[in-house]
Amino acid sequence: MSDAVILGMPTVRETRVPTRAGKQYFVRTMGCQMNEHDSERIAGLLDLDGMVPAESIETADVVVVNTCTIRENADQRLYGYLGSLKALKDVRPDMRIAVGGCSAQKERDIIRDRAAWVDVVFGTHNTHRVLDLLDHADEWGPITEVLEETTSVEMTASALPAHRATDHSAWVTITIGCNNSCTFCIVPIVRGAEISRRPGDVIREVANLAADGVTEVTLLGQNVNSYGRDLDIDGRKPLFADLLRRVGEVDGIRRIRYTSPHPKDIREDVMIAMAETQSVCEQLHLPLQSGSARILAAMHRGYTPERYMAKLAMARAIVADLTVSTDIIVGFPGETDDDFDATMDVVRAARFDSAFTFQYSPRPGTPAAEMEYTITPDVMKRRFDQLAREQDAITFQHNRERVGRTLEVMVEGPSKREPEVASTRTRGNRLVHVAGVFEPGSYLPVEITRAAPHYLEGVVSS
Ligand code: 5AD
Ligand code: SF4
Repeated sequence: MSDAVILGMPTVRETRVPTRAGKQYFVRTMGCQMNEHDSERIAGLLDLDGMVPAESIETADVVVVNTCTIRENADQRLYGYLGSLKALKDVRPDMRIAVGGCSAQKERDIIRDRAAWVDVVFGTHNTHRVLDLLDHADEWGPITEVLEETTSVEMTASALPAHRATDHSAWVTITIGCNNSCTFCIVPIVRGAEISRRPGDVIREVANLAADGVTEVTLLGQNVNSYGRDLDIDGRKPLFADLLRRVGEVDGIRRIRYTSPHPKDIREDVMIAMAETQSVCEQLHLPLQSGSARILAAMHRGYTPERYMAKLAMARAIVADLTVSTDIIVGFPGETDDDFDATMDVVRAARFDSAFTFQYSPRPGTPAAEMEYTITPDVMKRRFDQLAREQDAITFQHNRERVGRTLEVMVEGPSKREPEVASTRTRGNRLVHVAGVFEPGSYLPVEITRAAPHYLEGVVSS
């Protein structure tokens, strides 16, 4: 079947008659970019119902909590937050509380048991149903609706109206779910098998965003390199590299980012597409997780440290001036001092521009949660701090190497602390503070004048 003849299904926009006009909503996001993007769509649906964003949670008629379950502290934060909502609901019993996202998908009954004041529990495959579920709660009382799998990738992906946080940047989902089996990770259990959106649907969405004034898109998937393996477009499986090139052809899009690739699956074709497509930014987030071959095998990651380094070297050779970030977990079950030293060796050799570092957190239901665990909190903390110190020094060094260069930045808006200073981002996604007031979304050439450990400073170059 040709991709071109598939017409979009009717959107919620065409079918909903607003019923909550003027009421206020508050959406609290607790998780990753996918989770934030889901929140934008939840807010988009509430907008459709005539509602308006609340200035503060105290005045909200509907509160939606979009949960995360990737690490244990996410769960703990959720129950603390739900406790604070109970106090509000005691004062304003008409307030509706809906809990969605990954924790809701996985812990639906626990949420019900521990927080009886929640009106709606909805899973990650039911985001598009949030208005119907709120209607149901108004009429009949509390409801839980969690599907084990999605029935329509378009309804779970981006085809819903979104209330975007900014006018000029947008996320675009390309796959949902994950077919890998990293032993520490809850995502495959919660988000299910991987499903790709058809390239035509992705391109249409990007074109619509561009028509709306968006110039920067970030393509989202748990493993973007397996994009298209489940599709058949005229007898072919579309490749991520081809999708990048097609997004690169959309008029008006100046910056394309994507997250996350997988070190075992990323190939030269993607790197060449990055290098050859002007609008694809020189930025790669390539999760390492560990630098020990033994731990990587126990994590079921599908690569060795050597193979990881070879992929990284290839990416840097093909894409000039590449900025590389990573994810690293310390304290995986059975991690010895030698394993941790191996991670430190890779960190020093790879010289990442930045790293998101995590303390291992056992997730019930994952294979790693069944493994024997002997690492003490002290050892965990010592390794975590040592890794953070090493990476901070490398990040600072990278930042210092940028001083004196002129880089293109996009203005995000006034910085939080100083309204006379703009927060901007380079193509490599580095934060640059630029003195002055500029239109959010505008692009400027900036000379970098100073490096701080986690940001740069610059002046507009004439
Ligand atoms: N414990 C700690 N970190 C984890 N991550 C995923 N699962 C866990 C876990 N159980 C980290 C990985 C992943 C990032 C999004 O979160 O590094 O790449
Ligand atoms: Fe989790 Fe691994 Fe899938 Fe990433 S690739 S979502 S870490 S299972």
